[in-house]
Amino acid sequence: MAQASERPDVPDMGRRQFMNLLTFGSITGVALGALYPVVKYFIPPSTGGAGGGLTAKDALGNDVIVSDFLASHNPGDRVLAQGLKGDPTYLVVEGDNSLADYGLNAVCTHLGCVVPWNANENKFICPCHGSQYNNEGKVVRGPAPLSLALVHADTAEDKVVFTTWTETDFRTGEAPWWA
Ligand code: FES
Repeated sequence: MAQASERPDVPDMGRRQFMNLLTFGSITGVALGALYPVVKYFIPPSTGGAGGGLTAKDALGNDVIVSDFLASHNPGDRVLAQGLKGDPTYLVVEGDNSLADYGLNAVCTHLGCVVPWNANENKFICPCHGSQYNNEGKVVRGPAPLSLALVHADTAEDKVVFTTWTETDFRTGEAPWWA
């Protein structure tokens, strides 16, 4: 019975809180809307690299810093980064501990599994149906019909910028199948 006498207050409280929320929400919305261009001005575009490229990001979504990356990896390493269109893309550490100017799209050309790097075998070996690619991503065993797609991986201001590879595939001497 005590609950029944309190009940009339409940909608009032509810309405007041709702109105407060609305007011707060619209003020916040206006403030955020007004701030957006200011905030955007101070945030450097991380995806707008040279020539419309995309800055490589690590697994946490942070830009790959080339000097840090090379200091923490070894010659011969193949390391996944986020690439064009969100595709997992390998960064290649050359034998002289420099970053290769190409990256390898890690998506298997058979049915699309992400192909892991096998350092012991010096190959990429697909766990799904056993396709193999050499250390430059050239297919060396089926059923994959094609080599891993290439992208350009250029260094600018200590970051890696991926752009589409439209030139001849240096591994096969053929036109790129992915372009
Ligand atoms: S998806 Fe890689 S071998 Fe089938």
